[in-house]
Amino acid sequence: MTFPPQFLDEVRARVPLEGVIGKRVRVVRRGREFIGLCPFHKEKTPSFTVNEEKGFFHCFGCGAHGDVIGFLMRDEGLPFPEAVERLAADAGLALPARDPQAAVREKERHSLFGVMEAAAAWFESELKGTRGAAARRYLDARAVDEATRAHFRLGFAPDSRNALRTALEKDGITEAMLLEAGLIVTPDDDRSPYDRFRGRVIFPICDRRGRVVAFGGRTLGERQPKYLNSPETPLFAKGSLLYGYHLAAGPARKANRVIAVEGYMDVIALHQAGIARAVAPLGTALTEQQLESMWRLAEEPVLCFDGDEAGARAAARAVERALSKLSAKRSLRFATLPAGQDPDTMVRDRGRQAMAEIVGAAIPFSDQLWKMASGGRSLDTPEARARAHKQLQDQVARIPDSDLGFRYMEEFRHRLRLPWQGRRQGGAPSPAMPESPVRRGEALGPGGQGTTQPRERALLQILLNFPALAMEQHEALAGLHLETPRFAAVVAALIDWAESGPEPESADLRAALAGKGLDGVVEELVGQSAHVLDRPASIDHARELFADALNRQHQRLEEQAARAEAEGAYIDEETWQQTRERILRLQETAKAETDLPDLGVAPRASGA
Ligand code: GTP
Ligand code: MN
Repeated sequence: MTFPPQFLDEVRARVPLEGVIGKRVRVVRRGREFIGLCPFHKEKTPSFTVNEEKGFFHCFGCGAHGDVIGFLMRDEGLPFPEAVERLAADAGLALPARDPQAAVREKERHSLFGVMEAAAAWFESELKGTRGAAARRYLDARAVDEATRAHFRLGFAPDSRNALRTALEKDGITEAMLLEAGLIVTPDDDRSPYDRFRGRVIFPICDRRGRVVAFGGRTLGERQPKYLNSPETPLFAKGSLLYGYHLAAGPARKANRVIAVEGYMDVIALHQAGIARAVAPLGTALTEQQLESMWRLAEEPVLCFDGDEAGARAAARAVERALSKLSAKRSLRFATLPAGQDPDTMVRDRGRQAMAEIVGAAIPFSDQLWKMASGGRSLDTPEARARAHKQLQDQVARIPDSDLGFRYMEEFRHRLRLPWQGRRQGGAPSPAMPESPVRRGEALGPGGQGTTQPRERALLQILLNFPALAMEQHEALAGLHLETPRFAAVVAALIDWAESGPEPESADLRAALAGKGLDGVVEELVGQSAHVLDRPASIDHARELFADALNRQHQRLEEQAARAEAEGAYIDEETWQQTRERILRLQETAKAETDLPDLGVAPRASGA
């Protein structure tokens, strides 16, 4: 009888190799192995080793080698099934129920592979023969070269009711097998079955090991349906395979990059252009299994979608499928093609480089979520931000990796405070949305630092001197992004402190900050100016000053975002006008900013 492989694995796992061998051979441990005199040849010095970890014995003298089952077969001269049964009995494992049908099915599957292979070879030869002239012209017109045709084993099914059937029946392949392989179709009337693929270019679809399991057939003209695929068969489940996988796997794994496109022709064109990491689903939306397959090749597969509505919907579906499987090592990126192009036309019309650039500009999963939640518009009302926040929260909640989910929300909260992002077309991350608040300060360079520090300093001084205010305002603090990194660190520490349920005492707060190594900054902020304490007369006064400073801070950030936006490449006329007006208004406010109350510390001229 044949045993299922899982059962054999179970036997091997349950029976310790050393235990079985130890009954026959005296072995002693040496390092990771056991060593002893080989029972299979005569020897005086031990060269027989047992490696429990790998589950193998090996004799360096006579070359005897095998697993626990092999040992018993060799040692006692047992046939395989009996050796397995003995070991299973020793381990207390029940034998799997006999299933003669399983063996038959296995054999049938194997012969079905043979049928598919014979058909593929026949289609290939038809493409090269006299009947294939029109198909060859078609492929010429689509610029598929000879090498690529051979690589993908493209073929042709002549326009005939039974050419394939006749050819394969000569090789002893029966009608029943052709039916099971999905190569012929039984008509509703009582005429005999006829060939499924007629007058079509044939694209063999292979499993992961490169065995042909199905075919796609394309009309040479405009006839419908444009593509016809094999039906589901014992060999073929369309949701579990990717077109081109067996050819793309090697290059993709090596580069840790894989690209999913929509069509067969796209895969073929990319491979021909030297981008051999492309695969495609089989005419349906990507399934979870297909995502899993891609994750075996790369941590962040790039999904390529059309720039139109349908492309956006397809991307959204992929997001839905992927969310519950996301982790720091399993994510996706999204590339968007210019409207009206697919990867095939892209490489043909604009060249490999243009396509490579599109793939290179693919946005991370988080940006895709953002793009979907913001609808590509600027979220300039609290309502719009609340809606986006809700949608993002619902989606992020489905990410099983809680640390990753936390990072996503952290990122989105930052963005929700910046009303100017998302105006750029195409959803590319704009310079107004850098990944971290610290980076933002650096990225924007000139125009920032000189006036930034006094304002940031004033904000912190108020808080350090009114710990109760820091506690009261800690939620506002979460949205406050100071550009000076050491000040930003103080804000983070203030939030931690406020959320730890502390005593609202200055001393308590300073101790907490000192505990985080921030005593230097605290000294810088309030050290030399104890009298600052006295400046705002009351917490109410402090609150007013704080609100005012916070307001200016937000305006400041908007101004910078607006400037970055105006400098961005993809801005349309109307947005540009709005942006300009906005900048002018903000500049007015900035002028008034010199009136910011001096809380006692003179700005350092250097702005260090
Ligand atoms: P070309 O028009 O030859 O460039 O094909 P394409 O690969 O660009 O196809 P398209 O982008 O129109 O469709 C993408 C994929 O969807 C195809 O590769 C097929 O897998 C599938 N598909 C398209 N049209 C049909 C159809 O009529 N029937 C079926 N079953 N699948 C289709
Ligand atoms: Mn196409």
